[in-house]
Amino acid sequence: MKKIGILCSGGDAPGMNSALRAVVRSAIFEGIEVFGIKNGYEGLIDGSLVPMVESSVADIIQKGGTILGTSRSERFTKKEGVSQALNVLKVYGIEGLIVLGGDGSMRGAYSLYKEGFPVGLIPCSIDNDMDYTDYTVGFWTAVDTVTDAISKIRDTTDAHNRANVVEVMGRNCGDIALYAGISGGAESILVPENKADIDDIARKMLMGKNRGKRHHIILVAEGLGHAHEIAEELQKITEIETRVTILGYIQRGGSPSSVDRVLASAMGNVLVKKMIENDENKALAVGIRNGKIFTEDFERAFNRKKVFSKNLYDIMKIVSI
Ligand code: F6P
Repeated sequence: MKKIGILCSGGDAPGMNSALRAVVRSAIFEGIEVFGIKNGYEGLIDGSLVPMVESSVADIIQKGGTILGTSRSERFTKKEGVSQALNVLKVYGIEGLIVLGGDGSMRGAYSLYKEGFPVGLIPCSIDNDMDYTDYTVGFWTAVDTVTDAISKIRDTTDAHNRANVVEVMGRNCGDIALYAGISGGAESILVPENKADIDDIARKMLMGKNRGKRHHIILVAEGLGHAHEIAEELQKITEIETRVTILGYIQRGGSPSSVDRVLASAMGNVLVKKMIENDENKALAVGIRNGKIFTEDFERAFNRKKVFSKNLYDIMKIVSI
């Protein structure tokens, strides 16, 4: 393998730039040329490629977003889009493609692999919704952002003796709510994987109020939705004034945390090395499990259904009584 391409796809995640930097520099170290592809699979179809050198990725390890740009490409879900992308890769003489993204991006990469093109994935998503890896790049930064937001929301909630229902991202995965709920000391969390009873939450609010608590933070994962309805219902049952905060895209931005920078750097380096060794041209997904960076083939990574940490959920319930 003498020339590889790299693109970002789907929702951006803090740490994508750190991963890009690691891939470009690791490839150059191994004597491989790298092309950056702008705006995800859209740019691949349109032939929007730029050569990357060591300095192309200077001063980006700390930057949120992605310097390459990203997209959710409708065209790439069609056969014609995939074959146009393959033409572009052929014209540029690119022999392998590294994709930075989540499960949707993985599906896209898989369609190239099905046509015999070697691909590799670095899991980048704030959602942490891929089971084959303990963590995706961007997740911990999003958790930090939500944790910080909870602290600020708690100040004003406490001042007014209120409750606040805070909706967080994560698509169908409740991990952001779970981890930020624990680290931010939320009173309750509502996630799609483990539907809590609204009456239980209301009871907890009233018990808290009786012992002098002046705030109640309830984190709701967006996959469950209905933050406004939940707030209305809680206010009706408890008569505690309940406000709503939808955190939204703030969770995707910002400088990546050191955990995400290290994860992205290690994953980028390991994947480049494995793609060079990978003489069977498998599609490789890099991940981390029990503290160890590993690669496994797409097929296996794909077929694993994300398991929610019931253990951590139970801990959350105990530490927030
Ligand atoms: O996958 C990351 C994510 O931020 C999800 O948490 C959210 O549901 C979705 O992307 C939002 O996507 P878009 O940027 O297309 O609105």
